[in-house]
Amino acid sequence: MAYQLGREQDSAWLTAMRTPAVTVPAAAALHPGATTFGMFGCGVQGREHVRYAALALPGLETVYVHDTDEAAEEALITQLRPEPGVRISKGESAEAVAKSAEVLSSATDVLREPLAVVKGEWISAGQTIVPCDLNTFWDPRTSRRADKYLVDSIEEHELFASMGYFPDGLAGIAGETGEVLAGVKPGRESADELIVNSNIGMAVCDIAVGNAIMHRAPARGAGVRLPL
Ligand SMILES: NC(=O)c1ccc[n+]([C@@H]2O[C@H](COP(=O)([O-])OP(=O)(O)OC[C@H]3O[C@@H](n4cnc5c(N)ncnc54)[C@H](O)[C@@H]3O)[C@@H](O)[C@H]2O)c1
Repeated sequence: MAYQLGREQDSAWLTAMRTPAVTVPAAAALHPGATTFGMFGCGVQGREHVRYAALALPGLETVYVHDTDEAAEEALITQLRPEPGVRISKGESAEAVAKSAEVLSSATDVLREPLAVVKGEWISAGQTIVPCDLNTFWDPRTSRRADKYLVDSIEEHELFASMGYFPDGLAGIAGETGEVLAGVKPGRESADELIVNSNIGMAVCDIAVGNAIMHRAPARGAGVRLPL
């Protein structure tokens, strides 16, 4: 899919790639065998999360998407439908999506005061929630009652907490995403665990993806060598 010119120039496409490159592998590790995925927010990140989920969750059959902007929902479905062999459909409501998918993600707004769109009572044992938007879309009590609350960076979450995000305080953190992916800390230990894995995004991911792009570019004759 072609990105708009402005996004190519400001390298937003790189962030669009590297963000689901964290949350989706985490989802695959924390919820192997998931057949359903729910995406809240159908902008740049929502679209790329669905694209990656269809590639990285081998058992995925159905994706439900939800956005307050119906045009964004339709654009995501139109752009991605021809790509993977996975059915993507509009959820009837935020509640319907929350109750229909084993794995849920959100890429909406980052706010100090939680939006708390997804109510705690819509979430059940056994689900995996992988927000990339600072977790403000969810009732903060969901992270507290989760069997495991995992984050990409404890330091960064504590920094955001010190800036006034997570006004009720951070939930107890069981470990970092990288520790689970490396097998240092346990991921899902039983089918009925509720797991929340918040990935705020780390600059090291931009550097890692940028490095990979830089080393692949010459083989494709792409890029411009700049004198430093
Ligand atoms: N974790 C990371 O590394 C990382 C990286 C990039 C962006 N982000 C975050 O991801 C989020 C989305 O970024 P983007 O570039 O996709 O933005 P975007 O503007 O392209 O898309 C956001 C979408 O969310 C929708 N939305 C807003 N409020 C909603 C609500 N209450 N219910 C349903 N949908 C709602 C909007 O209509 C829009 O379509 C932002 O919060 C951004 O900070 C995180």
